[in-house]
Amino acid sequence: MNRKWGEYKEINVLGETVKAFIPPKLPPERPPLEMPVLHQPLLEASQAIEVLNVASDMVPSMEQLILGLHKREATITSQIEGTQATLLDLLETEAGKESNPDIQEITNYLKALQYVERELADEKGLPLSMRLLNNAHFRLMQGVRGELKHPGEIRRSQNWIGGARPGRAVYVPPPAENLPDLLTDLEHYIHQKDETPPLLRIGMVHAQFEAIHPYLDGNGRMGRLLIGVLAREWRVIRQPVLHLSSWFKQHRREYYRLLDAAHADGRWEEWLTYFLTGAAWVARETTELIRGLHAVISEDRLRVLEVRQNSVLPLRLFELIPAMPVFNANMVEARLSVSTNAALRTIQVLEMAGVVRESSGKSRNRVYRYQRYLDLLLRGAELPMPE
Ligand SMILES: Nc1ncnc2c1ncn2[C@@H]1O[C@H](COP(=O)(O)OP(=O)(O)O)[C@@H](O)[C@H]1O
Ligand SMILES: [Mg+2]
Repeated sequence: MNRKWGEYKEINVLGETVKAFIPPKLPPERPPLEMPVLHQPLLEASQAIEVLNVASDMVPSMEQLILGLHKREATITSQIEGTQATLLDLLETEAGKESNPDIQEITNYLKALQYVERELADEKGLPLSMRLLNNAHFRLMQGVRGELKHPGEIRRSQNWIGGARPGRAVYVPPPAENLPDLLTDLEHYIHQKDETPPLLRIGMVHAQFEAIHPYLDGNGRMGRLLIGVLAREWRVIRQPVLHLSSWFKQHRREYYRLLDAAHADGRWEEWLTYFLTGAAWVARETTELIRGLHAVISEDRLRVLEVRQNSVLPLRLFELIPAMPVFNANMVEARLSVSTNAALRTIQVLEMAGVVRESSGKSRNRVYRYQRYLDLLLRGAELPMPE
């Protein structure tokens, strides 16, 4: 359904006249969301998420899995914005490979996400607010590529999406002077009591955030961060594992086209249908991944137990490797607090059990992989990006 949504203001940017969009407050009211159209996709998303909830309640040591899933999301959300690194690159860097600006973007995102989760979990921490998001943005925009992008600050100049110059833009977000009011409205919407199902509200908040485009850069990543965080805050999911980036990555043209449809023609139902279909899809994908990872761990634990030995170290190491599926001897030394020799002997037991294997091919600075686990975790976080 098309509806009149927002207004345009003619402005001058770099000598060109363009129309900047000023979105109205959420939610759409005249007419309100057409709920019958959304019924089925909402039902499917809710059911898939409930299955995910059950799966994540049943798996022990969910903490380790959550960290892996966060790293996967950090990688994919960055890839959507052009970062040329994979999840394997990130894990190899953690195991001693030299870092680079692409890897740093991914670790920055991870830090931003973990910061937000910490604050929200802490009674004395910041509530969900622009202040919190700005602090997260500050962490996201560290390092060579982010420094000129005003880390942690709402933009003070005009920006545009697509096109080398403003006149060629696909979309021109609101002028900087409108941002304080627009963001206050968005904060109010997030905190107001509302009968709308939370998943729909999350979808609308994401699209509205992208329409406002409050930062000079990092809007896509911050807007996607908000999705998972809101899903947790609003108890849609019980563990922080609803990550939509792999859906957006697979269906990127649709993602941009429908974000545009929501603000340009007020076609909220179309955007929300896409969003809900994605929520259902990632919920199923994540359920399968969690179950798969858990199955691999359970089988391999038996393999370790079957190796005849009189030390508990191999089993202790085995319990650690899901959190560091690429590792070196130093990491083992540090985590198990043992000597280099003991670390190497312990790794050898896991090699003998067929659980890990050396991947560098070198005789020094060796690197080991928990390959069966990686095969599942890395899927979807590869390059190149699908068209
Ligand atoms: N037509 C559009 N209208 C609104 N938002 C859009 C449109 N097309 C793309 N986007 C959003 O803009 C994001 C890119 O903005 P950007 O600030 O560069 O994010 P990041 O730095 O995280 O790269 C996309 O990921 C998408 O979420
Ligand atoms: Mg960008």
